[in-house]
Amino acid sequence: MGSLDTNPMAFSALPNDKAAFEPLNPEDVRAYLHKAVDFISDYYTNVESMPVLPNVKPGYLQDELSASPTSEAMLVTLVAARDAALRRSGSVGVADLPRLTVYAADQTHSTFFKACRLAGFDPANIRSIPTGSETDYGLDPTKLLEIMQADTDAGLVPTYVCATVGTTSSNAVDPVGAVADVAALFNVWVHVDAAYAGSACICPEFRHHLDGVERVDSISMSPHKWLLTCLDCTCLYVRDAHRLSDSLETNPEYLKNDATDSGEVTDLKDMQVGVGRRFRGLKLWMVMRTYGTAKLQEHIRSDVAMAKMFEDFVRADDRFEVVVPRNFALVCFRIKATGAMTEEDADEANRVLMENLNKTGKAYLAHTVVGDRFVLRFAVGSSLQEERHVRSAWDLIKKTTSSIMD
Ligand SMILES: Cc1ncc(COP(=O)(O)O)c(C=O)c1O
Repeated sequence: MGSLDTNPMAFSALPNDKAAFEPLNPEDVRAYLHKAVDFISDYYTNVESMPVLPNVKPGYLQDELSASPTSEAMLVTLVAARDAALRRSGSVGVADLPRLTVYAADQTHSTFFKACRLAGFDPANIRSIPTGSETDYGLDPTKLLEIMQADTDAGLVPTYVCATVGTTSSNAVDPVGAVADVAALFNVWVHVDAAYAGSACICPEFRHHLDGVERVDSISMSPHKWLLTCLDCTCLYVRDAHRLSDSLETNPEYLKNDATDSGEVTDLKDMQVGVGRRFRGLKLWMVMRTYGTAKLQEHIRSDVAMAKMFEDFVRADDRFEVVVPRNFALVCFRIKATGAMTEEDADEANRVLMENLNKTGKAYLAHTVVGDRFVLRFAVGSSLQEERHVRSAWDLIKKTTSSIMD
């Protein structure tokens, strides 16, 4: 059973027991919340006797983990890459901005394209590179090379490439190492968006999806997606944090303080858009302390095993097909076009299946469009999900399919 360790001396190292993953017990949750309420009440009762400033030294929270929302992670790296490219081109202002160009596969999350616009890139210079089934919807490095070369020949300045490990739509994986190799030819910033699948990489058997990551400039992953941390919490790792502060540092008089002047603290305000920030890292740290490495790995592995079980059910039923090979805990499947059924008929059947199933209130399927086809997405990810839920969802899918096809 996962449990919160309230002994502060125990907070210095992650437990690494071999126990299987089990979600928190509801009675434990009740007890922890009572403790939290008591803590807050006591604080208000005693606040007048407390020092106005906490008596702590820089570094006392060494284990704190930092975080910011995903789109901001992309935005700050885009701004840093933009400024680095402008400096390289010798531009004194933003005169060269219209020539800077960014690249990502068409499966990249929409926040990337939003962040590009916020960072001031000309929408005409945002390249969305088409993907297809031949690369399982991952970015094709040969196409990337061709497009970057053509842009360079046309006088544009390639600046930033975003590779995704585990796309939202189908969990496709862009080949990080090959993308980094192409990007190196043009001296551009490579960012890896591992918002969802980054969590899987706490297990050694999934880490190959990040091969080549040692050659990229930044990577973000969001524990709120698949690491039992509630919204929102995104970790951004940057090869050289100075490249963020070179673009984002501000030093107004009213923010000056001894801790900053001493150089002993990392001023996160210089690496983000806003100045203030919530202590999101604390949530993640509590999750890591509560479950420990072994149980978190087990959480990922059991989700993947349940998704694999669902995938096997789909493959064993002639009426269905798995549309994209499963990489993690998402299964993309659909009723396939058989007999007189056209692909368009099958699209419609899948849409009706999804609507009817979701109306039952017993399971929820989301959809996507992959390769122009309407595809259903079965995702395993909740901490309370068990094999019996997956089995009953599959039974419901079969029953609902029979009711619309027979
Ligand atoms: C791969 C990927 N990147 C980025 C995002 C955006 O994340 P957020 O909504 O936390 O900003 C998502 C959300 O699903 C995602 O799957």
